[in-house]
Amino acid sequence: MVKFARLSFFLFSLAALVSPIFGQDYSAYLNNRIFQPCMKPVCYDDVGCFQPFKLQAYLGLPPVAACPQPPDELGVEFKVMRYNNSYEFFNLFGISPNSSVAYVIPGYRSEHTELFNMELVDGLLKHYDQIVLVRWDLGANPSLLFDIPVTRYNKFLAAANSEAVGRIIGNSIDFIVNNRSINPDNITLVGHGLGGNTIHFAADWIKEKYNLTVGKAVVLDPDAIPFYFSNKKISGKGDAKIVDVIHSTFVAPVPVLGQRFAGNTKTGALTPTGDSDYFINFPDSWNDQPGCDGLEFCSSHFSIMTFAASLHGCRFETKPCSSNIFQRFTSKEVGLDSSQTGPQGRICIKVSEKPIKRCS
Ligand SMILES: *[C@@H]1O[C@H](CO)[C@@H](O)[C@H](O)[C@H]1NC(C)=O
Ligand SMILES: *[C@@H]1O[C@H](CO)[C@@H](O)[C@H](O)[C@H]1NC(C)=O
Ligand SMILES: *[C@@H]1O[C@H](CO)[C@@H](O)[C@H](O)[C@H]1NC(C)=O
Ligand SMILES: *[C@@H]1O[C@H](CO)[C@@H](O)[C@H](O)[C@H]1NC(C)=O
Ligand SMILES: *[C@@H]1O[C@H](CO)[C@@H](O)[C@H](O)[C@H]1NC(C)=O
Repeated sequence: MVKFARLSFFLFSLAALVSPIFGQDYSAYLNNRIFQPCMKPVCYDDVGCFQPFKLQAYLGLPPVAACPQPPDELGVEFKVMRYNNSYEFFNLFGISPNSSVAYVIPGYRSEHTELFNMELVDGLLKHYDQIVLVRWDLGANPSLLFDIPVTRYNKFLAAANSEAVGRIIGNSIDFIVNNRSINPDNITLVGHGLGGNTIHFAADWIKEKYNLTVGKAVVLDPDAIPFYFSNKKISGKGDAKIVDVIHSTFVAPVPVLGQRFAGNTKTGALTPTGDSDYFINFPDSWNDQPGCDGLEFCSSHFSIMTFAASLHGCRFETKPCSSNIFQRFTSKEVGLDSSQTGPQGRICIKVSEKPIKRCS
């Protein structure tokens, strides 16, 4: 509460300072959704109505309940990318009919992870005719005042925004199914962090509105904070015909203080939700993935690197995720793809530093 009060004071001081300079009402520049509770559903054209994202379990910092910003404030863009001797970019009209498509959806503060990394892009292009890069920079790192985002304070609004972004992605899926003759089975959704959380919202929306289900989802280190103890679900089983979840960071499902965790980039889910849930280097990964040494985003990005390595053909040693942490890894090696192996349930895998180096 102290921080919140301090922030409010800071805002009002800043507002008082700038309004004479600009000679107009500062409120137009102030994104008050970041700290003002949203208690009633909001509705927008094309994406329908949203129940407030309930955040009471997160004391101190957030706004008790948050609603997504209007779609035009989220900065959602779809870029189609294909490789044909060089990388080519198109809009959704550029998708070839009757082909296969993988969506790539980055997470919180996603401008830091734009394109994720080339290993992932190249890995996906080995398996899919094209990828659809989903940008949602503004929604993923909402600005507080003018164009200035305030990390931590805006995490909860970004989470609420992920629901609207999911539905916008859902509308684009309906478009490519109907306009570009893409078979829904030929669509895979890949999302990291909050981008992984958008998948459940996209899936719910297309099921309800268009009676569609996509073939596959790959959910990379989905955010558990602030989804635990809220009224919103983490992506999982049923969101696609096959759902693989790859976990590289963990928070325990206990109610938490918002400010302790909001700015943390290690807020992945401990609970399994998919047809297969791959836990990387569990339980050592409570702390950090190999080579990360506390580097921001690194342990969470480790799930991306590991999935990319799998797309390039790498296999990983496995062991059951029993409570006996001394149980050895077996020599059984798996790729991370339930459509090849069948559902694996909860499974622990061992991945060394720079996963892709070993087998590309
Ligand atoms: C690849 O590029 C060549 C030459 O630019 C073009 O003729 C061909 O149609 C392209 N193929 C696809 C699948 O876009
Ligand atoms: C795509 O498939 C549909 C039927 O699934 C077919 O009618 C259409 O001609 C195909 N389009 C192309 C360009 O192959
Ligand atoms: C799925 O995509 C592949 C190309 O990757 C294509 O050959 C196949 O016809 C597509 N399936 C359907 C049902 O459109
Ligand atoms: C695809 O969408 C465009 C623009 O909305 C429209 O002009 C075109 O007729 C559509 N094509 C099909 C096959 O639905
Ligand atoms: C929904 O789609 C499935 C096949 O994909 C079809 O069997 C079913 O009848 C559809 N339901 C409605 C209400 O249109």
